[in-house]
Formats: sequence, C-alpha cells, structure tokens
Amino acid sequence: MKSIAHSFSMSIPTRKVTNEDLSRVMDTSNEWIVQRTGIESRYWVESPTTTSDLATQAARGSLDRSPGAVEAIIAATLSPDYSFPGIGVSVQHKLGLPPVPAFDVRNQCCGFLYGLEMADALVQVGKYRRILVVGAEVHSTGLDMSTRGRDIAVLFGDGAGSCIVEGVEDSRSETRPQALEIIGSELHSDGAHVEELWCEHPGSAHFPTRITQELVAEGKVFPLMNGRKVFEHAVKRMTEVSMSLLSRHGLSAADVNLFVPHQANLRINSLVASQLGLREDQVWNTIQNFGNTTAATIPIGLSCAFEAGRLEPGQIVLSAAFGSGFTWGATLLKVVRG
Ligand code: UT7
Repeated sequence: MKSIAHSFSMSIPTRKVTNEDLSRVMDTSNEWIVQRTGIESRYWVESPTTTSDLATQAARGSLDRSPGAVEAIIAATLSPDYSFPGIGVSVQHKLGLPPVPAFDVRNQCCGFLYGLEMADALVQVGKYRRILVVGAEVHSTGLDMSTRGRDIAVLFGDGAGSCIVEGVEDSRSETRPQALEIIGSELHSDGAHVEELWCEHPGSAHFPTRITQELVAEGKVFPLMNGRKVFEHAVKRMTEVSMSLLSRHGLSAADVNLFVPHQANLRINSLVASQLGLREDQVWNTIQNFGNTTAATIPIGLSCAFEAGRLEPGQIVLSAAFGSGFTWGATLLKVVRG
C-alpha cells in the first residue's frame, strides 16, 4: 500500500494588502520588507471570516477535484476560531460530512507536514483509506498593527490549503488529479526554544488569570519573535533534516526536481537551497504574493505548482519547514500525476 496526497486546493481571501498599505499604518517601508523577506503582498480577510471558513473553502476544492467520502479530517492551524474546540470539527460540520473523526494539529509552520505524516501513518496501518488534510490560518486579526509589532505584522498572511491523502495499491495506474506519492518524512521538535517565537497569552501557564487588561496593553496577546535566532535555526535545521531524509531514502539533492519549502522568508529558502546545492529555479516560492500563511504555506505552494504545470510524473519533490516550538521537518514526495 502506498499513500498518495492528491487533489490540492487553496483558499485565499480577496483583500490584497501591499507593503505600501502597511507603511501607512506603521513605521515600515516596501524597501525594508522586500529586502529582508521577499514579501510584496499578502491577503487578509475583509469581513468576518474564520480559519475554519478558509479551511472549508480549500477542502471543498479538494473534494470537487476528487468527489467521495472522507473517513477522517486532520486540520492544522495556530489560529483556531476559538481557544477550543479546534477547527477540525467546524470543517466537518461546514462540509456536511458524517460524524467522522477530526484531528487537530498545532505545530505551527510545520503543521501541514505533521498532518501529512499522521495521515500517511493512519492510511498505512489500515485505519482509514481517505483522509482530508488541511492547513489554514487567519493571522490578520491577531497582529499588532502598531510600529511595536512591525517585525511580525508585515510577515503574515491569511489563507488555507488542502489535499486528500489516500491509500492506493499501485500508484502507477493513478487516476486521481495532482497526485504525489508520500515517500517518507522526518519530523523533529525542541521545546527549549518555546519563548523564541510564541504568543504567550492567554494560556494556562498563567496564574491566577490567563489574561488581564495590563497584558493586553503590553501587547502580550500578540505573537513575539526573536527574528535573528529563528532565522539562524531555520536555515540550519531545514538543511539538516532535508539532507538526512534524502540520505535515508538513498537520494541526494541532485535527485530533487522541485523544492517546495515553508514560506517564512525568501532569504531562508535561498540559503537552504544553496546549502543543499539546489539552483534558484528549483525552489518554488509563493511568499512574494501571499506572505507567511504558516500551516497553509506548503499545500498552497503545491497547489500553485500543480496549477502552473510545474510538476510532472516521476519528479521528486522535497518539502521542508521550520517554526515555533521549535519544530522542523521534511517530507519527500514523488509526482505520480500532474
Ligand atoms: O514561519 C516561522 C518562522 N519564522 C521565521 O523563520 C522568521 C525568521 N526571521 C526573519 O525572517 C527575520 O529575522 C525578520 C524578517 C523577522 C527580520 O529581519 P532581520 O534582518 O533579522 O532584521 P532585525 O530583526 O535584525 O531588525 C533589523 C532592523 C531593526 O532596527 P535596528 O535595531 O537595526 O535599528 C528593526 O527594528 O529592522 C527594524 N525592523 C523594521 N524596519 C522596518 C524590524 N521590522 C521592521 C519593519 N520595517 N517591518
């Protein structure tokens, strides 16, 4: 039995926010954002739209491409509609599915790769045959839009991406659209770095009250990041885990046709690619248009790559991510159908 991830889809809000737009509300500039991150625009929700709304829209696209029952949902986000429950149950309800299990994955920027590994494992043990995997975020309503929050606020976009993971006996006769065989994955975490990239409040770590007006005034309800440290670790860990995964499967970077990394910073992806020995044209970036959509960057990237006709049968695709936790990982895929 092989697991294939297929029928990729994405949902992006309609409100395009340019760097110029941001420079009107905080002390930043198009030049700074483009030079330091590569981001030119991102899309933010413009009317009440929840993370599960975007996740559901993306999921509908996957189910339109490949109609049929799904036996479980795995939904990854760091920006759920509510503190609890997670978005998985809302996606189940909004899609009108029968009461299938809905797993919620956190793992931030690695959420989609963690979700794919779970789906692959559940398919391989024979528990479920067809699983919807979705990564979605609404960041825009949770950012500090003042100059105090500029190092973070300019980075993030809203969006969702999804696919269906399915067990197949023989991927060579594959008929499902946009299909990638999951060759393998390697995931890691190191919680020593929780405070380097986090949103501290509200949380049960705080006694006797999770949230106060003072904490709100201090901006402790917004994400905070030690940018330079995260940058250094991201380059090191994404390179390391990619090499390790390739070598475990008897491959090298020379076998990779397309690298579809997480989208946190164009400079991070360039450095990882050069350390792996990949050319710039082998790296698939979407951050210029969409910013960092966290758990959604990789399914959005794969969806765009398929739509652009960039993936052809037989090609090897490497994906890698790094984010809050710290968590990091890589997944190796083989295109079975474009
Ligand atoms: O997806 C999860 C993982 N996230 C990441 O991997 C992000 C990793 N980190 C990064 O991508 C980069 O560290 C940033 C893009 C966040 C920042 O770039 P940097 O080159 O590391 O800049 P910096 O934080 O060292 O800041 C340089 C200067 C500072 O001013 P001073 O102290 O040199 O006067 C900042 O205050 O840039 C200033 N700055 C800004 N200026 C204009 C910070 N944010 C902005 C801004 N606009 N938006």
